[in-house]
Amino acid sequence: MYATFIRSSLNHWKPDDFDLSSVRLTEPLLHITKTICLLESRCDDYAEYLQAIFRERTEDWTSAISRWNFEECQHGVTLRSVCEAGDQDFDFDFCMSQYECLVSYHAPTGESVRGSVAAEMVSRCVVEALASTLYRVLADAALDRNASAVYSALAQDEARHYGMFLKMLNAEAKENPRIGVLARCRFALQRMIELEDEQIMLASCVVAGRADDIIFRRREASWYLSRLYCFYRWGHLRYAVRMLLRTIDVRATPLLVWTVTMAMWSVIRIRLLMAILSSFVIPLRAAKNPTNKAVNRSGEVGRI
Ligand SMILES: [Fe+2]
Ligand SMILES: [Fe+2]
Repeated sequence: MYATFIRSSLNHWKPDDFDLSSVRLTEPLLHITKTICLLESRCDDYAEYLQAIFRERTEDWTSAISRWNFEECQHGVTLRSVCEAGDQDFDFDFCMSQYECLVSYHAPTGESVRGSVAAEMVSRCVVEALASTLYRVLADAALDRNASAVYSALAQDEARHYGMFLKMLNAEAKENPRIGVLARCRFALQRMIELEDEQIMLASCVVAGRADDIIFRRREASWYLSRLYCFYRWGHLRYAVRMLLRTIDVRATPLLVWTVTMAMWSVIRIRLLMAILSSFVIPLRAAKNPTNKAVNRSGEVGRI
């Protein structure tokens, strides 16, 4: 039934298909992989939230989310294997429980925190497009062939997930003509602005072993992004831009793709430069910036 929105890849891989007996990753790549391993391992929370939103919909919608959930859970399991092969001291259970204590996900109330199903679908398209891009970046950056094969498989899955949510978005837009280019663009920008939110930064903080102390979100963001953004190349961003333009229902002409890719490339380079500079100026542990947002151990965000 889920085939309306997503097709099961004929030879979809299984976590055991990969040879992960030995994995060699550089420290930044290993850290990034541990961080996204925690994010992917929350798949059941994401699915519960979306299933509640689609409670009144036909089985096409709910079964597609179930299939998506199954594949996202496989991502978490496989990335855990990569991390454990790359670092025998990686304690997944400890990190995961610490992460879940720090960051709660949206409650499955049936209401989208984005305000509408269309906004939720645009947000999901953005996340899946950027996830697919991220795995391509990691596949290109990793010198280890086994880890690179995992990243490539995950990049393909995320691209299929992007296609699934885009079909859902277009089905929703058919019923509601007010969901035009401007509305989609606004929803997409809102989601992209949230990329430095607690979900990712606190996962990074947990796997770095800094979650027992006061956590400074902006510092963590700078530390994490200084490791991640140096791997992004023009071709990766062009790939993301094509998907983002389709999400907002704009034809991806060569000139428009080049222009938006240039804008994105500039933003990423400037953010990388700021992240590198701030990591020199602001040490990760000392609390010298009184306006820096902090998160205490119970997960409350505030200023100190
Ligand atoms: Fe995933
Ligand atoms: Fe996905």
